Amino acid sequence: MSVTEKFLSMEYGPAPEDPREALAWLDRHARKLGHFIGGSFRPPAEGVYFDTLDPSTGEPLAAVAQGSATDIDAAVKAARGALAEWQSLTPHARARYLYALARQVQKHSRRLAVLETMDNGKPIRESRDLDIPLVARHFYHHAGWAQLLPQEFPGYVACGVVGQIIPWNFPLLMLAWKIAPALATGNTVVLKPAEFTPLTALAFAEICQEVGLPAGVVNIVTGDGSTGEALVKHPDVDKIAFTGSTEVGRAIRKVTAQGHKKISLELGGKSPFIIFEDADLDSAVEGLVDGIWLNQGQVCCAGSRLLMQESVAETLIGKVRERMSALRVGPPLDKAIDIGAIVARVQLERIQRLVDQGVAEGATCWQPPALVMPSRGLFFPPTLLSNVHPTSTVAQQEIFGPVLAAMTFRTPREAVELANNTVYGLAASVWSESINVALHVAAQLKAGVVWVNSTNLFDAASGFGGYKESGYGREGGREGLFEYLEPEWFKNAPRLPTKPPAIDQPTEQGIDSDAPPIDRTVKLYIGGKQARPDSGYSFEVRAADGRLLGEAPLGNRKDIRNAVEAARKADGWARTTAHNRAQVLYYIGENLSQRAEEIAERLAFAVGKEQASAEVGRGIERVFSYAAWADKYDGAVHNPPFRNIALAMHEPVGTVGIVCPADMPLLGLLSLVMPAIAMGNTVVAIPSETFPLIIGDLYQVFETSDLPGGVVNMVPGRSHELMKVLAEHDDIDAIWSFAGEASSAAAKSLSVGNLKQVFSDEGRAIDWFNVQQGEGRWFLHHATQVKNIWVPYGE
Ligand code: NAI
Repeated sequence: MSVTEKFLSMEYGPAPEDPREALAWLDRHARKLGHFIGGSFRPPAEGVYFDTLDPSTGEPLAAVAQGSATDIDAAVKAARGALAEWQSLTPHARARYLYALARQVQKHSRRLAVLETMDNGKPIRESRDLDIPLVARHFYHHAGWAQLLPQEFPGYVACGVVGQIIPWNFPLLMLAWKIAPALATGNTVVLKPAEFTPLTALAFAEICQEVGLPAGVVNIVTGDGSTGEALVKHPDVDKIAFTGSTEVGRAIRKVTAQGHKKISLELGGKSPFIIFEDADLDSAVEGLVDGIWLNQGQVCCAGSRLLMQESVAETLIGKVRERMSALRVGPPLDKAIDIGAIVARVQLERIQRLVDQGVAEGATCWQPPALVMPSRGLFFPPTLLSNVHPTSTVAQQEIFGPVLAAMTFRTPREAVELANNTVYGLAASVWSESINVALHVAAQLKAGVVWVNSTNLFDAASGFGGYKESGYGREGGREGLFEYLEPEWFKNAPRLPTKPPAIDQPTEQGIDSDAPPIDRTVKLYIGGKQARPDSGYSFEVRAADGRLLGEAPLGNRKDIRNAVEAARKADGWARTTAHNRAQVLYYIGENLSQRAEEIAERLAFAVGKEQASAEVGRGIERVFSYAAWADKYDGAVHNPPFRNIALAMHEPVGTVGIVCPADMPLLGLLSLVMPAIAMGNTVVAIPSETFPLIIGDLYQVFETSDLPGGVVNMVPGRSHELMKVLAEHDDIDAIWSFAGEASSAAAKSLSVGNLKQVFSDEGRAIDWFNVQQGEGRWFLHHATQVKNIWVPYGE
């Protein structure tokens, strides 16, 4: 071809990136890498290695160590051993280490980018311009947090030794997302990279050596799922942070249910990419290229479900096809390549299987007909599936490949319904030139990140993480740091015996022994109404000295279901203004105060006079506290380093099932229910099994305080039986279990199914009278989830 012909065809020539430095690095390690434990590389205890391959050629790059339980144990010991020294450093000293890591990543950025591309198959353009710069940015940002930690997080301490397990789609970036906040908050780390992509983590280990990071602060153990499992099971690990498939996330939840490891999970997604008829369609199509074809679609937040307003669907499909025809698939080290290799054969086969299934279920499959595919390596063409039914497999399951499933909608309402019709809730893109439409829709999407007229934007200052089965916890920003911190008092609180303790024996003078038993029959409280229990049974409630105090209804499965339904129906509460919620809470406080004496008198029969009057007094204060918080626990506005603002909104978690402490019937219930409803959640509460009669007073207070029906529902009964129903109920979004160790373990294991968030006392003693322990931001943090809405500005 002559120069003129080339010029006229506008074809790209090859523009290969030079791999020599990365290969030289591998050669320096004799193409055989051990684990990084206690500050140095060492061979695996059992001497087993496996090859990591270049997926674009199929050729081995290096042998890496297969980690065993012995290796994990050595790494955890090294991390534990390094903890005291790491924590004894000043925040400034830790900040300097993080800063040094950021600088060193920048210095070696090209080598890291090439290594990443060779090991993973992603285009060099992406590893060079997106992954590695974001890695450096993450360490810089967290160097700042290390410095500011004591001022910004007073009263919080590090979890301790953290086990981190990462996937293969953004190997070094996921490492940075995990390690930077962990170190900034004073934890030490054992990280297991994915088996397909261990190389950049090992290159990073060397960087740790170069900056003189104290030995044992970062440990890297390579291996497959069994290595990850050994890390999750290790008894001396305080926290597990995981990114990967929902299936493994579930397995991790199961394994850890009996213990006290703190968990954060960043799981899969099936993110909607919503285009309204008034959108700038060309920009939206460009966005789509990033949304679904970035990293071959192997992105947890990939915009894999295209939702198009019907009026523009045909035009859009035409534009999408045209744009797809211009995409170039090929060797990922070529700088002019859009789509690189799929990470592993098993993934390639999985993509093909799902596409075939989509077609079998009625979708139309389109791939650019003139596309030139490489003759070797693992590649999959950009693929468009149209006529996809919203319930079909390809609309529901994460494909994790360059495959877009397209559907249509008519109205914004239908768009929201379709978008939320998934078990996932990681991210969403909304395209409309009307700011009203875009933000109105963004607010209704159940997703941790919403990009307006943009997609796949990430920044260290903005938290990233999901709703629903996309996991919980956030990575990045202030909200991400909480995942690696715990309130100091909580970490040091003594653990209670496994069984809920008997309530304090009321003192002799505490109980008025001449008083007649209170013959009271209270009811359930569901949907704002007093209801009889479905079982038709009641159970006796007795004072500590054995006298009958009254009868409480024995709630059962059906009652809980009714209560959950009522709570769900009351979701308008989340949309009322914070000011309105504050008013209702103040009113509850006022009405409680008016009945303080009689409530205290009745409560005294169960807990003694002293505790009863203290519970009522402090209970009223607690209600006022959360009335105060209702309009003050604000989100934030992040300023990422490009023309965007990210609105970090505090949204309620949804419907929360609360198991109240047995020994603090009034104050315990108020301390849990009030923060939940102050933030807009609805609640199904199981009151203290010891003295459930308290709800008789409470519902009268609620009824006179303008609390809408269904916002708080109360079902007394056998706590563990009712909690099981709550934990297994798909319409409960979180369980708060504060009735001791056994209840907390049961809540965790029973809710594995749909991966509910569990917030619990972990069997620790909580002093509900102590303001530092019994109220405040810790509870509000759990009552909310952060949604980051990215809004671009400027021309
Ligand atoms: P995976 O979830 O099996 O692997 C992720 C990490 O977990 C790897 O480091 C792996 O070694 C480790 N792991 C596997 N089993 C484990 C266990 N029982 N205990 C502890 N750690 C364990 O993901 P996989 O098999 O590589 O990919 C399968 C599918 O998962 C993908 O097709 C995609 O749908 C999804 N996925 C989602 C990711 C995300 O970012 N949300 C990332 C990777 C995969």
